[in-house]
Amino acid sequence: MPTIAIIGAQWGDEGKGKIIDLLAEQAKMVVRFAGGDNAGHTVINPLGEFRMHLIPSGIFSPGVSCLISNGVVINPAVLFEELDNLQRHDVDVSNLFISDRAHLIMPYHTLLDALEEEAKGGGAIGTTKKGIGPAYADKSARLGLRAGDLLDKEAFLGRLRSVLNYKNRILTKVYGAQPLSLDEVYEQYCRYGERLAPFIRETDLMIHDALDRGELVLLEGAQGTLLDLDFGTYPYVTSSSPFAGGACIGTGLSPNKIDRILGVFKAYNTRVGAGPMPTELKDEIGERIREQAHEYGTTTGKPRRCGWFDAVLARYSARLNGFTGAVITRFDILDTFPSLNICTAYRIDDQVLTQPPSNVALLERCQPVYEEVPGWQSETCNIRRFQDLPKEAQAYVKRIEELIGCPVALISVGPSREQAIMVRPIL
Ligand code: GDP
Ligand code: IMO
Ligand code: MG
Repeated sequence: MPTIAIIGAQWGDEGKGKIIDLLAEQAKMVVRFAGGDNAGHTVINPLGEFRMHLIPSGIFSPGVSCLISNGVVINPAVLFEELDNLQRHDVDVSNLFISDRAHLIMPYHTLLDALEEEAKGGGAIGTTKKGIGPAYADKSARLGLRAGDLLDKEAFLGRLRSVLNYKNRILTKVYGAQPLSLDEVYEQYCRYGERLAPFIRETDLMIHDALDRGELVLLEGAQGTLLDLDFGTYPYVTSSSPFAGGACIGTGLSPNKIDRILGVFKAYNTRVGAGPMPTELKDEIGERIREQAHEYGTTTGKPRRCGWFDAVLARYSARLNGFTGAVITRFDILDTFPSLNICTAYRIDDQVLTQPPSNVALLERCQPVYEEVPGWQSETCNIRRFQDLPKEAQAYVKRIEELIGCPVALISVGPSREQAIMVRPIL
């Protein structure tokens, strides 16, 4: 059985949660490998409607092991809230495991995220203020505390004392904020540690064992490729590596162990937070997409910026990730439009570009070159076979395939698990 990575191909919120929930029915293991509770994955299935921030969206399928691996940064308070909510809905969480190497989000991370954003003024990134950037920065600076550290309280106290001493100096001297109390943070995290202990494992070994047994393993991406720290629209990015390369670092899997890489694309584009978005529609069409599709952030509630499908960025994303298949979600949202635009190139001064520039100031200046295609103006949410889609809808999918250079394997036509059209076998 293959290992399949499911990757956000745009700026996040492509519908990864729904796709994982759907594919997990056939899997034995789902591993969330990057990001933290900046993610919000919506799952709607017979057990209810859930907004997942940390726990893999495979948790609803009985017998599937769900791992939060080393690449994730964990805020224990958010994790416990999520666990409690699942248990209230009678979801079995006995197969959840957490990497001893996963870094912890500490109270100073969330405080500093907000303070740093404020200090940036007009240059703010529009982060989720969940402490993600500061937690990954500490991981790189070798100042992080990991889930496994909670298992040895004395050693944890020693590390916390020295890190907190440093963080308090920044909080008070740079930002004029109140210092955090060592005793309070220590006691709070000791309580978290007691509750986390039964979940903590060496998740890399568990994944390798599952592969040795020939089981189907899904790697659940968070965020999206255009938010990648290296390949996204830097500095308007998140602080992790949500693209396919991050799946190796975030799990401990060798690149030669990942067999398929599925890119999840919305049928149009959205973005939360600041940064360039060449196809953004600041007119009534953008407003119509936002209201019709209820494009408001799962984690922040912020209105998402909406625009036409950007095939320049989609092709870039497909190439970077090496997608073996694409999933198109929210297809039904385009049902009512008489015509649709697809951005096939950018114009900047007198040049036409077919690759996005890496420089964010240049990308800001890029004007989309559109190809207008007819809409289908009929409901698709109850269609389950590709050949039953209106011919204009089939043509839209085929044009996207052509432009991004990878076959479409699945089309999602509604938020519920069963609202999907399998175009080609994925497994
Ligand atoms: P994720 O972060 O990639 O998992 O995506 P989010 O859950 O943040 O945002 C996707 C939104 O679209 C959620 O509200 C889903 O319930 C919804 N959704 C997913 N697929 C479809 C679809 O095909 N059609 C419609 N109408 N909604 C969808
Ligand atoms: P899922 O997994 C959409 C965006 C934030 C902000 C930028 C940096 O649900 O697709 P951060 O808090 O990560 O430092 O914020 O990244 N962002 C997301 N946008 N979906 C997400 O996750 C996101 N996670 C982060 O809005 O612009
Ligand atoms: Mg989301």
